[in-house]
Amino acid sequence: MTNLIDEIKQLKKDRDATILAHYYQDGEIQELADFTGDSLKLARAATRVQTSTIVFCGVHFMAETAKMLNPEKHVLLPDMKAGCSLADSCPAPKLHRYQEMLRENGHRFQTVTYINSTAAVKALSDWIVTSGNAEEIIHRVPKDMEILFVPDRHLGQYLEEVTGRKMILWNGSCMVHEIFSVGDLLAQRKKIPASITLAHPECPANIREHSDFVGGTEAMLKYVGAVGEPKEFLVATEANMMWQLQNQFPRHRYHPVPGISCACNKCPHMALNTLEKLRECLATGGPEITWQPEFDKAREVVQRSLLN
Ligand code: 13P
Ligand code: SF4
Repeated sequence: MTNLIDEIKQLKKDRDATILAHYYQDGEIQELADFTGDSLKLARAATRVQTSTIVFCGVHFMAETAKMLNPEKHVLLPDMKAGCSLADSCPAPKLHRYQEMLRENGHRFQTVTYINSTAAVKALSDWIVTSGNAEEIIHRVPKDMEILFVPDRHLGQYLEEVTGRKMILWNGSCMVHEIFSVGDLLAQRKKIPASITLAHPECPANIREHSDFVGGTEAMLKYVGAVGEPKEFLVATEANMMWQLQNQFPRHRYHPVPGISCACNKCPHMALNTLEKLRECLATGGPEITWQPEFDKAREVVQRSLLN
């Protein structure tokens, strides 16, 4: 293992590369990364990278976004098959047809799209949001416009609750956050009555309503960091988030909220990136995200939404 890590560090120098890793990557990958973060922090960090290559340890839409914001850089993804159930739930042609149907029926709306989507979907959108800036962006949509929110119906419903704006919701969800067991959460809360429950807004309402704090991964870190005395946290998000929480705030104890069918709640897409594939990718310079025609339009929307 040490050999593999040393090799990765050397290859990173040889290739003039910077490693970015999402909080949902295995701890050993987060530990090696130059930057860790949520989707928003990583997209912004990518624009400040000085090296010629970015290795994105995350999923495809994240690497694609980094490429859009940095067309001159080589952007590598250790495994090109690292997708996302949310992005899969909203194919661009289907969204285009739905938007046409709404227009034909007299709706005046703007399309607000969660960053967990393909570039082709982003190109059909007015705004891109992450869990970190969604509320702020919703307030930028003119009041006389309806909002079509895609693709996460749970995040959309949560945003309706916190902003008071009614939305037309696409029927997508995250395969990891969708399956937390409310029964197990209630049992955990009973067993540790002083515990604090954290839930990602990708969780369904039945989990969110039994949580003390709802926020994206960066907001969770901020919230936990502000709690001074040692506490027990129940964490309803992807299990690797607990590595980062433990790493930054070891004074607390963290317990994963189990899923209905398994106890781990790891994202199978994120898990495709391994240390071995990271080494391979640095050694060979691939797989690489290449510029696609839809990136031109998507880039404008992403820049306006995430960098301004
Ligand atoms: P954040 O990075 O915004 O917390 O979102 C979590 C996620 O599901 C990324 O795929
Ligand atoms: Fe997509 Fe969910 Fe995995 Fe995030 S955790 S990449 S939303 S499937």
